[in-house]
Amino acid sequence: MSLELESISVAFGGFKALDDVTISLKKAEIVGLIGPNGAGKTTCVNIITGFQDPTSGTVMLDGQDINAKAPYDIRRRGLARTFQAGRLFSGLDVLDNLAVTGVGLGHSRRASEDEALRVLSWMGAGHLAELPAAGLPYTDERRVGIARALMFAPDYLLLDEPAAGMSETEADDLAQIIRRIADELNCGVLLIEHNVGLVLSLSNHVYVLDAGKIIEEGDKTEILASQAVREAYLGAEHAPENMEHA
Ligand SMILES: Nc1ncnc2c1ncn2[C@@H]1O[C@H](COP(=O)(O)OP(=O)(O)OP(=O)(O)O)[C@@H](O)[C@H]1O
Ligand SMILES: [Mg+2]
Repeated sequence: MSLELESISVAFGGFKALDDVTISLKKAEIVGLIGPNGAGKTTCVNIITGFQDPTSGTVMLDGQDINAKAPYDIRRRGLARTFQAGRLFSGLDVLDNLAVTGVGLGHSRRASEDEALRVLSWMGAGHLAELPAAGLPYTDERRVGIARALMFAPDYLLLDEPAAGMSETEADDLAQIIRRIADELNCGVLLIEHNVGLVLSLSNHVYVLDAGKIIEEGDKTEILASQAVREAYLGAEHAPENMEHA
């Protein structure tokens, strides 16, 4: 059981946003995807989840080709994502934000609300259920975004910068949740983060993307020792954060 990006390339006009990218993620495993701004990380997520089509290459989900499948279809097959910006329905409370996803997946309203409460309490966020999504503090909005993605137990979860804007303590709490998603829910997590320390400490395997190409992959030790990774980040607008804390 795995999610495989096989030689994915994406061109926007003449610009290659992804060039021959191959990534593998197994269930219950945490795989990191790091790289400077504009490297192509979100484009990878958009390709995997059907929000965008690759120019060439295939995406295989548990042995099935999911290229050109619609986002809702891919979500039904057990592959969920979060967004860089929260994208909650501001007019609904937290419970309904989650329940809507359940209904979209084909479950009854009642079953969706039950599942929403179960997921929220699993995350230690049960107290948020009745609150309007619009007024949530930033960190809670992020947590609700993850809870929504966990509705009805996906096999794979793609997290696009879940720790952005969080304090160190908040990022530590998030790290625990990510670890539990893999360990307790048996869910494969693709973790995209500028907080490189967080990624290196959690991931079984890390891919480094720079200007659309995978320039390095390996475990924490291999990534920290890589000259190519240092060079990629030295040239970047934002140096890798917390690398020394990894
Ligand atoms: N729809 C699009 N049309 C044209 N260019 C695009 C489109 N989407 C993304 N790009 C370009 O592709 C490149 C990769 O973008 P992407 O958003 O995947 O980077 P990223 O690694 O997620 O960056 P960040 O760390 O800032 O979130 C960027 O140069 C971006 O401007
Ligand atoms: Mg991005």
